[in-house]
Amino acid sequence: MIDASRIYALKIFQQVIRRRKPLSSAIIESGGYQIASKADSAFAERIVKTALKRLGQIDQILGECLAQPLPKKARVAQDVLRLGAAQILFMEVPDHAAVHTSVQLFHAEGEGRYAKLINAILRRLTREGCSWINAQDETRLNTPDWLWHSWSKVYGIQTCREIASAHLKEAPIDISVKANPKKWAIRLGGQVLNTNTVRLEGSQAITNLEGYNEGSWWVQDVAANIVSGLIGDVRGKRIIDLCAAPGGKTAALASAGAIVTAIDSSATRLQRLRENLTRLQLKAHVIEADAKSWRPIELADAVLLDAPCTGTGIIRRHPDIAHCKTASDVMELMVIQETLLVAAVELVKPGGIILYSTCSLQPEEGLMQIERAKKNELPIRPLPFTKNHLLGMSEMLTSTGTFLSLPSYLPKQGHMDGFFACRFEKL
Ligand SMILES: C[S@@+](CC[C@H](N)C(=O)[O-])C[C@H]1O[C@@H](n2cnc3c(N)ncnc32)[C@H](O)[C@@H]1O
Repeated sequence: MIDASRIYALKIFQQVIRRRKPLSSAIIESGGYQIASKADSAFAERIVKTALKRLGQIDQILGECLAQPLPKKARVAQDVLRLGAAQILFMEVPDHAAVHTSVQLFHAEGEGRYAKLINAILRRLTREGCSWINAQDETRLNTPDWLWHSWSKVYGIQTCREIASAHLKEAPIDISVKANPKKWAIRLGGQVLNTNTVRLEGSQAITNLEGYNEGSWWVQDVAANIVSGLIGDVRGKRIIDLCAAPGGKTAALASAGAIVTAIDSSATRLQRLRENLTRLQLKAHVIEADAKSWRPIELADAVLLDAPCTGTGIIRRHPDIAHCKTASDVMELMVIQETLLVAAVELVKPGGIILYSTCSLQPEEGLMQIERAKKNELPIRPLPFTKNHLLGMSEMLTSTGTFLSLPSYLPKQGHMDGFFACRFEKL
């Protein structure tokens, strides 16, 4: 019997690598749970994430094992080899199981005469692989060229290496709690990171954890939690969350006492937002609309624009981003972000606040949007953050008063997502 988890792993891996589909969509569209049990699916997703995180290293090693590159039509063989190598070199899968299931997988899914080659190469990796990976420059190899060049230019080579190194680590689970972080840290065996975030180690089934069904907390990286708090005191204020789904920041705002209108153009993502709010017993006025043209009856006290972006700050949690996004996506998104910022300004009353954020490390999607807003002569002025806004995390305050978290931060606690945020006041 062919192993269900490996079939599922190959299917979703191919969607990401061959079709540049986000891993989350590949998982949903693959109907994985019909192929594999819940435990098998979780294992398959771990194989795929490991292969995506370590693809640069894996491809270099496989390249050395092959006398000549595999022909284009041997894609299945190449991907079976990559997934097999991920298990042998970077996971605690017994060698014989990784080799045997890979050959079986190729027999079931592939064509041609590569089964023997796959068997021989993977066996070789079980013997020599460890010494090869020890000699590799893992941070450089696993980072696409365009990101490496961009980050070394913007942040310096040392920080670029630290960012790339953080991406290879297993990300912990961060939860934003409605109240009593200390109590939840004790109950769930985690640690309190900031006012609302409790960090849990290891991979755990979220829905089985205490407090999930009662809606006491939701999953959100500490960086996203800090960003939600940067609007300031929102109690009783009317806030428009302009790109809201799946709703991590909507929940934070509603939980802090804001009257929230949550806008998003994606019906499927809004469905998740509604489910999250229902579980958390939080309220928001949810509207499916294009933020570029939607207008409220009454102007808001503040708008949060957590704009669509490349997501290069969250590669640690979403390694598919490193393989799906390109430099031209940055250029496309930059224009969308600029248009959305123009729309956001129109929704706020004079004296109101606009908080702009992205989970990107690319300056085009962050700092440069302030320049663009100036160039567009928007009726706003930058309102710098101060140390008080960051409550003990002042390394995230830049010299220009914007917020910038890097994945290399909090190394002792398990790192954090990369986020940019800045604040404006409407004139
Ligand atoms: C970065 S995500 C938002 C994450 C969300 N703020 C949270 O904390 O959970 C960006 C969102 O923008 C939405 N979006 C993209 N273009 C949009 C548009 N023109 N109008 C409204 N929403 C849009 C996407 O559907 C996506 O859900």
